[in-house]
Amino acid sequence: MDKKRIKELVGEMALSEKASLCSGEGFWHTKTVEHLGIPNFMMSDGPHGLRKQDMDADHLGLNESIKAVCFPTGCATATSFDRDLIKKLGQTLGEECQSENIGVILGPAINIKRSPLCGRNFEYYSEDPYLASETAASYIDGVQSRGVGVSLKHFCANNQETRRMSVDEKIDERALHEIYLAAFEGAVRQSKPWTVMSSYNKLNGRYVGENHDILTKELRDRWGFDGIVISDWGAVGDRVEALKAGLDVEMPASRGVRDRYIEESVRNKRLPEEVLDLCCERILDVVYRAVEGHDDSIKADFMKDHETAREIASESMVLLKNDDSILPLDEKKGRIAFIGKYAKSPRFQGGGSSHINCIKITSALDAVSEYGIVNVRYAQGFDDECDEVNGEMQAEAVALAKESDVAVIFAGLPDAFETEGCDRSSMKMPDCQNRLIYEILKVQKNVVVVLHNGSPVEMPWVNDVKGIVETYLGGEAVGGALVDVIFGKVNPSGRLAETFPYQLEDNPSWLSGFGSGDEVTYSEGIFVGYRYYDKKKMKVMFPFGHGLSYTQFEYANLTLSKSEIGASDTLKVTVDVTNVGTRAGKEVVQLYVADKESTAIRPVKELKGFEKVFLKPNETKTVTFELDWRVFAYYEPKIGDWYVESGEFDILIGKSSADIVLTATVEYESEMKLRQEFTADTVFEDIFKVPGGREAVKAVVDKYLAQGEKCDTMPVEVLESMIGWLPLHATMSFSQKTITLEDIREAVEKLNEIEQ
Ligand code: BGC
Repeated sequence: MDKKRIKELVGEMALSEKASLCSGEGFWHTKTVEHLGIPNFMMSDGPHGLRKQDMDADHLGLNESIKAVCFPTGCATATSFDRDLIKKLGQTLGEECQSENIGVILGPAINIKRSPLCGRNFEYYSEDPYLASETAASYIDGVQSRGVGVSLKHFCANNQETRRMSVDEKIDERALHEIYLAAFEGAVRQSKPWTVMSSYNKLNGRYVGENHDILTKELRDRWGFDGIVISDWGAVGDRVEALKAGLDVEMPASRGVRDRYIEESVRNKRLPEEVLDLCCERILDVVYRAVEGHDDSIKADFMKDHETAREIASESMVLLKNDDSILPLDEKKGRIAFIGKYAKSPRFQGGGSSHINCIKITSALDAVSEYGIVNVRYAQGFDDECDEVNGEMQAEAVALAKESDVAVIFAGLPDAFETEGCDRSSMKMPDCQNRLIYEILKVQKNVVVVLHNGSPVEMPWVNDVKGIVETYLGGEAVGGALVDVIFGKVNPSGRLAETFPYQLEDNPSWLSGFGSGDEVTYSEGIFVGYRYYDKKKMKVMFPFGHGLSYTQFEYANLTLSKSEIGASDTLKVTVDVTNVGTRAGKEVVQLYVADKESTAIRPVKELKGFEKVFLKPNETKTVTFELDWRVFAYYEPKIGDWYVESGEFDILIGKSSADIVLTATVEYESEMKLRQEFTADTVFEDIFKVPGGREAVKAVVDKYLAQGEKCDTMPVEVLESMIGWLPLHATMSFSQKTITLEDIREAVEKLNEIEQ
């Protein structure tokens, strides 16, 4: 509907109707205004499937929703590094929404994986904001191409479940912009989500839902967001402050209480009516996008979508280790033991509001029998409900492993470990599973561990097993996808979207953890994930971007279109990749940028590009990246904006963040220089750096050094060597009264007159 008609409609609404439009009807709908013929739309939880609740509604996954397909969760799709695949996921979800007349799906969820313990990491994408935003943008493009909107969530810094509704996340300005907001910024700018969901937590002292700087200045004014902000379910404190900040729809229904508060606030002038009008216009705009976008002819085919879920899962699995090329297995050769409960009933999704009532589940055992693979035998091995070893189950599994040629152990985290509302307390797998792996290693040297978990786990046996496949939480078709990978029907091509440290204590969030009481300080600042491990030169178990293939790739001919660039240039980077192995496969070409020398403290390198390419044996393809000024920038708090410092930058091409294979250098010339403001507190080192600075303070320096001529303990050379870190005003104390306040004032004035 056009903007003019929307304005007219809002003009025809009574104050009470406008106030009431700003909250939901029940759990999942917006409100209608019958006498004006204004319709509503329904929202449903995602992000990795449709959780439409028809009857008893709740937002914690307690009551059943309609049957639908559970696609691989966020952690298991970001690893695909494949924009087209994620877009396909979005399109499929969009079609399922159309089938069920859902106007907006509540996803994608893109909070940064600050700690491996966050209970919702399985829903989230990455520790890296660029990868998170690119993945989200593809998901949004896919869903919205089908006339259905998304809700990008949880905006922002909802990186832990501990006290999620009251915790105050203290984040410095650079980390906030470069890490936590950047993930959202890229997705909003590129793909224009219809809605954004504001998170429960506080950020630097105030609820995000009441934060005008975040919801309006950043989101709308800077990034150009033109949809509506809806609250997370129950994430509204002061409704009027929230409206002023830019929070349009409170979810779920407020049962009229807060609607009346809005109405009264307009009457008593606490809330300008124009703010409410603007908010209603935005809401109606999205209501009509949803209603006009509805297409009755689109009918989802759940069985077909189950196959899509299988394809996505197989393309996303990460082959972490493959010594002696133990994988792929030959389905016709040898006796194969599948050990562990998850071979029969896989762990493939997490708990809470994203929980899907699955249409069908394919386990690995189902899949081998579908394929008619007859040489696989099964033993449960452990009871996943408890930590302790079940002697009988373990003995049976060890015996089976002993009489087999290879043991594939299906391990991971039990359901209760990963759910909305709680964080994990350790990175360890249940003891019974680790013990089982060790016992099997005593009788079988060919061991492959297949992991089912939403976030990294410690692997004390990592050096002892030959193969490790990370399936993450791979959706309802995970068993089929896994069988395709381990028997070589699909060549694995997933790459880690997060670092796997050896132990929890290595992770940068360990020191401040989830905080104390209602406050958590992100003391690691911008050094999240690989940015931290790189800087510390720390060894990790598996680095960000890591993932093996059944073939090998080689890189050559890294070229840059220019050797010098500025703000208005685009740098074209090309590199050739060749499949030098014997199987067809996909490679993820990763591009990192490193500021070689910088005044600001910066990460060693940051991911700024990736492309996934399919290559037949001996085939070579040229991969191209286009880089603009922003990839070289950092957020400079002095100007409250992104800034590039002139100098050399390395363009790094890598197979992972720890395996850089080619490097080229470009010179960046910034048009903008940071202006140095001078006061009596400015130290001489900073003054001397500015051309003309030394001249401006010459009178003061001369007087300061003069005293050294008569002094043995502080000769001129000593005074000179000390001057760098001396603030201008301190020379008064060291000059036996020859330098006056007037001299200092004059020097400051002269300094500030310098053209910079
Ligand atoms: C979750 C959201 C979810 C909403 C509705 C909240 O508890 O944080 O992710 O979309 O409930 O179910």
